[in-house]
Amino acid sequence: MRHLLGIQELSAEEICKLVELARSFLALSRRPVKKAPILRGKTVINLFFEPSTRTRTSFEIAGKRLGADVVNLSAKASAVEKGETLLDTARTLQAMNADVIVIRHRLAGAPHLIAQHLARGAVVNAGDGAHEHPTQVLADLVTLAEHGGWEGKTIAIVGDIAHSRVARSHLWASRKLGYRVRLVAPKTLLPAEVERFGCEVFTDLDAAIEGADVLYMLRVQTERLESRALFPSLREYHEAYGLTKARLARAKKGCLVMHPGPMNRGVEIASEVADGLASLVLEQVEHGVAARMAVLVSLCGGEAS
Ligand code: NCD
Repeated sequence: MRHLLGIQELSAEEICKLVELARSFLALSRRPVKKAPILRGKTVINLFFEPSTRTRTSFEIAGKRLGADVVNLSAKASAVEKGETLLDTARTLQAMNADVIVIRHRLAGAPHLIAQHLARGAVVNAGDGAHEHPTQVLADLVTLAEHGGWEGKTIAIVGDIAHSRVARSHLWASRKLGYRVRLVAPKTLLPAEVERFGCEVFTDLDAAIEGADVLYMLRVQTERLESRALFPSLREYHEAYGLTKARLARAKKGCLVMHPGPMNRGVEIASEVADGLASLVLEQVEHGVAARMAVLVSLCGGEAS
């Protein structure tokens, strides 16, 4: 593996290997001394052109726990603000001998463009537009693995599918790993030609909940909606697509609730569900660090790869 650009490019075997490697790092993060200097001497640069709490911090923590030097660069504080192109920025970071460039960008394909032009170093996609978010899905797969695995499971992904790179990466993963995905959204938040995705599509949340093993709630990405009114109001969205305690009570026994964060409490998920016993939201965050450790180790070598 030279770069990690998407789940699309990975084989089932590679995905499973990353998930198992991530699981082997879980114990390390729970120790009083959270350090295994496998990546000592390596340099990881986080290049984020979009806001992020979980992804950026977990790449930083992942790198540091493995002993790498981690540098964070946000677009606002970089020469991009002075008109430098994305490729020149990437070439500059390469000239500093970065081993891994982790990039988040609002444009789909930005990490791929950089990867094509860099002769050295690895590129990791930390979310490109509505295209892919492979490390989030690796974190989710670690979470599923810790809860009995994904085999034979049905995951209902609910909400703003149209703008969700997480949903797209899950679709790729589900095809490769063999779990079932149901997409659940109002028609206006479903991508064009959604039937081509080859999975079940629901516009009725209550129907989709029936028989689902996991309810995977998505944030309504208001920053990507532009001025288009894709649903009447957030209150009405919550009525029809919000996961409430009453709705969850009608789900299959043991049904789990996931969300990649950040959550809009009271919109796609009620607080009592987000903080309830079925919620794996904070486990996903913890597993996100382990998943990123696995990715960094797989890309820049080290004893555990
Ligand atoms: C997601 C993203 O940025 O794609 N967040 C994340 O990385 N955990 C989902 C979102 O922004 O709603």
